[in-house]
Amino acid sequence: MNPVLTEIPDIKDYDYVIFATPVHGFQMSKIMQAYLNQLPSLKGKVIDLFITHFFPFAWMGGNVTLKQMKKIIEQKEGQVRLMTSINWKNRHREDVIQQVVTTYHV
Ligand SMILES: Cc1cc2nc3c(=O)[nH]c(=O)nc-3n(C[C@H](O)[C@H](O)[C@H](O)COP(=O)(O)O)c2cc1C
Repeated sequence: MNPVLTEIPDIKDYDYVIFATPVHGFQMSKIMQAYLNQLPSLKGKVIDLFITHFFPFAWMGGNVTLKQMKKIIEQKEGQVRLMTSINWKNRHREDVIQQVVTTYHV
């Protein structure tokens, strides 16, 4: 079932954006899919991505999710810069989050 978005953040005044989603069913969450798909052109925007997932390996949804996000963004002429998978079960999780916090800015 496709979700109906009741709130749609407007990013038109921003030239740098971070998109993040949990992995759901080995792919991008339906909510993020719906949000990204309805966005107008992303031309001129630099975009960093991160996803969170629970299963131990990136091929269990993490990689696919990042690829799906990148594809939609590039179709809308946005420029994807950094991409990170955060594994919720990994013992280095907090280090990875810290790295995202310190590197995700223009
Ligand atoms: C409906 C559903 C499906 C999920 N499917 C996956 C999956 O395919 N692969 C995975 O690694 N994690 C999966 N997860 C785990 C979430 O990605 C993980 O809980 C999330 O990234 C952590 O954030 P949260 O606080 O939103 O749960 C799933 C979680 C839910 C609720």
